[in-house]
Amino acid sequence: MFSVIGCGFKIDNSLSFDQQSEYVWQVPNGFPIPLVPADNPMTDNKVELGRQLFYDSRLSGDGSVSCAFCHQPSLAFTDGRSRAVGIQGNIHPRSAMSLANVAYNATLGWDDPSLTRLEDQMLIPLYNTQPPEMGAAGREAEILSRLKKDRDLRLLFHRAFPDDKYPVTMRNVIFALASFERTLISGNSPYDRWAYGADPDALNKDQRAGARLFFSKRLNCFRCHAGFNFSGPVKYTGSELPEARFHNTALYNEDGNGAYPRPNTGLHRHTGQGGDMGKFRAPTLRNIALTAPYMHDGSIPTLEAVLDHYAAGGRSRFNPQIVRFNSNTDPLMTGFKLSPVEKRQLIAFLNALTDQIFIQQALEQEVLNP
Ligand code: HEC
Ligand code: HEC
Repeated sequence: MFSVIGCGFKIDNSLSFDQQSEYVWQVPNGFPIPLVPADNPMTDNKVELGRQLFYDSRLSGDGSVSCAFCHQPSLAFTDGRSRAVGIQGNIHPRSAMSLANVAYNATLGWDDPSLTRLEDQMLIPLYNTQPPEMGAAGREAEILSRLKKDRDLRLLFHRAFPDDKYPVTMRNVIFALASFERTLISGNSPYDRWAYGADPDALNKDQRAGARLFFSKRLNCFRCHAGFNFSGPVKYTGSELPEARFHNTALYNEDGNGAYPRPNTGLHRHTGQGGDMGKFRAPTLRNIALTAPYMHDGSIPTLEAVLDHYAAGGRSRFNPQIVRFNSNTDPLMTGFKLSPVEKRQLIAFLNALTDQIFIQQALEQEVLNP
């Protein structure tokens, strides 16, 4: 019944905790145990180091941007912007994603089929140069020397990696950050108390009606935002190896043939296949009320407008330029009529996916000005 964050490890700034205690998962009801790579087992000390580093802007080339700069706990680890902003004001082409339940995602990022490990994903914000997000490329020695100068942090590295003589390395930074990310589990929303917590009053009448709409064959939301995480494919201890899935939800049709504006062509960006144009991963809808604006490019400002987009069978259908049926569009994007009352109910349901306990704990454990 708890969000894992905060339950499995001690927050103790006096650094008095013992040697490697194995991390104890306490996942919410209805949730499976995340998969952890064999080469990066979870320990309390590694999670604690990762938490400190996540909020630490010394990790960026010029010392100005931390992971949390774009992944803020109060916004379910997003940034409230349509497109993320990195060091020196560089604008990323896409929107920062929520990190809630990121441990379960079969693939990482909006559209990348090959990114499956948190340890690999992180290389992008750290080292990416187009555009630079944290600008660490070529400045690793400088970054590590900044970290080494901090005595408390150095101690944490030694505790987290006791077998290493010189533990302050980029590899260990990355492994600790990944361990911390795996603890960001959100499953304490009113919906969870209703569905898994046997509390029939956790959802009001509107929210229950909204749930029925969400899971209906008319709207089909649950077909893409599926399972306990209301998302695309997930993996966990004991699960089958999931197949990656990406969908074109008819957001754009630049050329009458379904083209998306560059560089955000989705799966097509990685495969070069015409049929992959505009295909993106269905992100989790947990905490969705906190993560506006929406879609890979933040081009839809509100949940009401998101519902208008789906009701119309895709925003591109409004486009008078459309001359041909766009064959990439997912067959589930059929469109539907939604009455004002139904719209209110569906929004009420989406609001019931907000996990205040998760946000509260994340805020309590935020590291300010490390
Ligand atoms: C400049 C803003 C920015 C910074 C700094 C940043 N991120 Fe991100 N993050 C993003 C954006 C944008 C995406 C979506 C990338 C994409 O797929 O195009 C993202 C995606 C992710 C994802 C994938 C989530 C999912 O559901 O697939 C993870 C994990 C992540 N970031 C972790 C981190 C970590 C760890 C750090 C620090 C080392 C970090 N980020 C720093 C902007 C940022
Ligand atoms: C065909 C699969 C599919 C169906 C059906 C579907 N979605 Fe989505 N949804 C997606 C994909 C893919 C994205 C990301 C699209 C993008 O950014 O280009 C998305 C994005 C979203 C977002 C924005 C998420 C974010 O973090 O920005 C919301 C909210 C959303 N969907 C709600 C719904 C609701 C409500 C329904 C039912 C009316 C629904 N979806 C039906 C696949 C689907």
